[in-house]
Amino acid sequence: MISDVLTEWLKERFAAILPGMAAEVRERVQSAPATNMEFGDYQCNDAMTFAKQVKRPPRALAEEVAAGDARPDFIAELSVAGPGFLNIRLADSWLCAQLEALAADSRLGIPDRGNGRTVLLDYSSPNVAKPMHIGHIRSTIIGNALDRIHRALGYRVLADNHLGDWGTQFGILILGYRNFVDPAALRENPIAELERVYVKSYDCSRQDPAWLDRCREELVKLQAGDPDNRALWEQFVAYSMAEFDRVYRRLGVQFDLVRGESYYRDDLAGVVAELEAKGLARESEGATVVFLEEEKLPVCIVRKRDGAFNYATTDLATLASRVREFNPDQIIYVTDERQQLHFRQFFAVARRLGCTARVTHVWFGLMRLPEGTFSTRQGNVIKLERLLDEAETRALEVVKRGGSEAPPEVQQEIARVVGIGAVKYADLSQNPQTTVTFSWDKALALEGNSAPYLLYAYARIASVRDKYAERFPAGDLSRWPIRLTEPLERELAVRVLQFPEAVVRAADLCRPSAIADYLYDLAQTYSRFYQNVPFLKAEEGVRESRVRLCGLVADVLRRGLELLGIETLERI
Ligand code: ARG
Repeated sequence: MISDVLTEWLKERFAAILPGMAAEVRERVQSAPATNMEFGDYQCNDAMTFAKQVKRPPRALAEEVAAGDARPDFIAELSVAGPGFLNIRLADSWLCAQLEALAADSRLGIPDRGNGRTVLLDYSSPNVAKPMHIGHIRSTIIGNALDRIHRALGYRVLADNHLGDWGTQFGILILGYRNFVDPAALRENPIAELERVYVKSYDCSRQDPAWLDRCREELVKLQAGDPDNRALWEQFVAYSMAEFDRVYRRLGVQFDLVRGESYYRDDLAGVVAELEAKGLARESEGATVVFLEEEKLPVCIVRKRDGAFNYATTDLATLASRVREFNPDQIIYVTDERQQLHFRQFFAVARRLGCTARVTHVWFGLMRLPEGTFSTRQGNVIKLERLLDEAETRALEVVKRGGSEAPPEVQQEIARVVGIGAVKYADLSQNPQTTVTFSWDKALALEGNSAPYLLYAYARIASVRDKYAERFPAGDLSRWPIRLTEPLERELAVRVLQFPEAVVRAADLCRPSAIADYLYDLAQTYSRFYQNVPFLKAEEGVRESRVRLCGLVADVLRRGLELLGIETLERI
C-alpha cells in the first residue's frame, strides 16, 4: 500500500533526525492521502506532532526531513507548506509500476492482514417468534459487509448468528400458543401469528398474576427438558428460521454458525458460580450482581431475583465458549445503539474473569423510515421483506425511466440488483453512528452517493474494454504498458491505488462507509477523467494505457461493491 511505503520511509527520516526519540517516532509517524491533491498526493503532519517535544519550530523540522538528496525512487517531490506540513508527490514511474502490480494481482492490492487469524463476527441475531426489526436489518447489512471485508483481508471469519432463542419470552409464548393459536393463520404467516399470540398472552400476564405464574411454570418445564414444551419450542425456532432464511437469501448473507443463545444454556449456572467463587459477584436485593464501580458503570445483574439467568449471563457463557473453541483474535458484536451499556458491562465483567480476547461492540443508530411506507409498530418494527419488495418495484421504475431496452425478465433482474443494492448502500454509506432517515429518492437517485449511481458508473466503465475490442479488433491491451501523461489520469491512478487503504481503514474502524466513501470518490474522479481526457480517440499506446486504467477502475469498483455485499451488472 502507498501509505505503508511512505510511512516506512518517513519513519526512518524522522528517526535519523530525532535519534533521541527514535522508538516513539517509529511508532507514531503516519502519512495519509492529501486533502488537496494540488500540493501533493500524500501528506504527513508529524513535524507538528514532534516539534513541541523537541522544542523546535515545526517548519524547521519538516524542512530537515525534506532535505537531503537520498530521495527514494517513489518520491518525485517533497515540499514543506504552512506551519510544517510535508507534501509528497509520488513518482509517475513508480505509480505505473504499482498499477502494473495491481493489474496482475487478483487481490487488487488488498494486503493479507489477517494471516489466517480468526475474527468471530456476531451479527444479525434476531429473536425467535418475533419479526426482525430495523436494528436487526442494519446489523445484518453492516455485519455482512464487515464479514466480507475481513475475509478479503485474509482473516478466518466465523460469522455467528446469535439468535435470541432462549429466554423468558418462551413461557409466555407457549401458554399463549396453547390457548389462542389460530392454525389457519399460523399456516398463512407463522411469525405474525406467533407474535399475535405472544402479545395476547403477555397482556394476560400483565393483568392476571395467575396467568403470569402459569407462564413461569411453562418456562421452567421447557428449561427442565419437558418433551411437549421442547417440541413446541423447536417448532417456533423452525418457523422463525424459515422466515429469516428467506431474508438472508435475498440479501446474499450466509453464516458459519447459527448457534443461538440456547446453545449455551447449560453453561449459565457455571458462569454465576465462577463469579461467586472468585468473589466477583454478590447478593444484592435477592439478585446476584457484579459491582462495576471502578468502571463507573451500573451493577451488572447475572441472576435475577426469581433465579433466572439473563442476557448478560448468556453473553458471558457465550464468550467463554467461543474463546475455548476458536481462540479468536477479535470478537465483533454488531447491534443497535441501545445495547451500548449492556456491552460495556458485559465486557467489564469478562475482563474481571480474566478474558483477554479483543472484544469490540460495533453499534449503529436506528434508521428512521419514511412515514406510511410500512406497517410500523413501536416505530421500528417493519417487515423487511416488504421493504425489499418495494425497493425492487421502485428500482424497476428507475430502470424503465433510464430507457432500458432489455427484455422484461432482464429488466426484472436489473431491478433486483439495483433495488437490493440501494437498500444496502443507503445503510452502508452513512456513518453508522448517526440517526439517518431512509429516503427512497436518495437511495434510488441516479446522481449522488447512491447504489444506482455506482452501478451505472460501473456498467459504463466496464463497457470501455468491450468498446475498445469492437473498435480495434486487432488491438492487444496487454502489449501496452500503463503510462500517465495527463493530470486527471494521474489523479485517477492514485485513487485506484488507494483501494487497499480504504479496505484496511474500513476494517480498522469497523466502518464499511470507508469503502463507500472511497468508491464514490473514485467514480467521481473517473467521471471527470472521462469527460476531459480522450481515450478511444487517443493515439495508439496512450489509448491502450487509458483503456487499461479504465479496466482497473472497473475491477476496483466491482470488488469494492462486492465487499459491501452489492452485486454488479455488466449491462444496465
Ligand atoms: N438477540 C439480540 C437482540 O435482538 C441481539 C444479540 C446480539 N449479540 C449478542 N451476543 N448479544 O437484541
